[in-house]
Amino acid sequence: MTQDELKALVGQAALAYVVPGELVGVGTGSTVNHFIDALATMTPRVAGAVSSSHASTARLHAHGIRVLEATEVQRLPVYVDGADEIDGHGFMIKGGGAALTREKIVADLADRFVCIADASKRVEVLGQFPLPVEVIAMAAHQLERRFAALGATATLRRRADGAVQLTDNGHPLLDVQGLRITDPLAMETEINQWPGVVTVGLFARHRASLCLLGTPEGVQTLVF
Ligand code: A5P
Repeated sequence: MTQDELKALVGQAALAYVVPGELVGVGTGSTVNHFIDALATMTPRVAGAVSSSHASTARLHAHGIRVLEATEVQRLPVYVDGADEIDGHGFMIKGGGAALTREKIVADLADRFVCIADASKRVEVLGQFPLPVEVIAMAAHQLERRFAALGATATLRRRADGAVQLTDNGHPLLDVQGLRITDPLAMETEINQWPGVVTVGLFARHRASLCLLGTPEGVQTLVF
């Protein structure tokens, strides 16, 4: 099976955790795109979705699924999203698609975080994938120095045309290479304290409740 077929498999499998007639939190990325397509086929349908990015909102709307603002909602039964890396405790690195801040906000509304990922995302120790950090622009160089003090290298993310990539919130992102994250909770707490950090793409406080992992043998359910 191709990686995309594995993503489609878990996108479909996530429907089992969605409550018909209720709201669902929707993440961002290529795996979630499969989930959104599957969601459109679900009967009875969901009442609506709270989306974590303009891209997911557009795809939900294209399927005729109602999208509510996070401010209109007090609680979601479930949030479904992908990950760039997930470890054996459900701790994740997220933000490769630049949607980390809105993803954490929507995840915070949800009772359960269902992570959908192909098997390549499952790691023993987080950090091989560069850690995304959304930042306030004027703090970028000081934050680069803070990461350098940890022995890591932070680089401003750029688009293919060379321009600085901005999130849906209008902020730049640093991608941090060279971290070996053995204590995700401690590192998330530490980085969250640094002035100018909007969101660190470590999801430790908002770890996955379960992960549907797409493998060539089928969907593996990891419960944390
Ligand atoms: C978006 O900002 C990310 O957090 C995604 O959830 C993550 O990058 C996984 O994306 P794919 O499903 O495209 O691999």
